[in-house]
Amino acid sequence: AATTLHEAETATISQGVVESNHAGFTGTGFVNYDNVAGSSVEWTTDSPQARQVRLVLRYANGTTADRPMSITLNGTTIAANLSFPGTGAWTTWRTVTLQASLVAGPNTVKATATTANGGPNVDSLTV
Ligand code: GCU
Ligand code: CA
Repeated sequence: AATTLHEAETATISQGVVESNHAGFTGTGFVNYDNVAGSSVEWTTDSPQARQVRLVLRYANGTTADRPMSITLNGTTIAANLSFPGTGAWTTWRTVTLQASLVAGPNTVKATATTANGGPNVDSLTV
C-alpha cells in the first residue's frame, strides 16, 4: 500500500528544537529532543479506514547509549520502551518499525523519550 511521510519538523514538538546541522535528513530538518525524559514529538496521520500499518520512525543517534522512547497511538501506549540504539554518527540515519492498528480518521502517534538522555534526533514518521 502507499505510504505517507510525515516530517518531524512540522509535527507538534514538546521540549525539542528543529535543527538542520547534521546532514542526511529529509525535508527541512529534524527534531533534536531536549536531553530530558518526557521530551516528545506528536504526529497526526489520517487513515481512510481502520487498518493495520507499519509505523517507520527515522532517526539518528550519534552516541553509544540507547535512547529509548515510548510510542503512543491515540493516547494508548503501543511500545513502552522502544529501542533507538546508536547509529554511529549524528549523520547516519536508520529506521525503527512497529505495527499499529489505526482507526478511521485522524490518529495521533507520539514518541516520548523515557530517559534523561532524551530521544534521538528524529527525522520523520512514515505510515
Ligand atoms: C549533540 C548533537 C545533537 C544531539 C545531542 C544529543 O549536541 O549535535 O544533534 O541532539 O548531541 O546528545 O542529544
Ligand atoms: Ca538532543
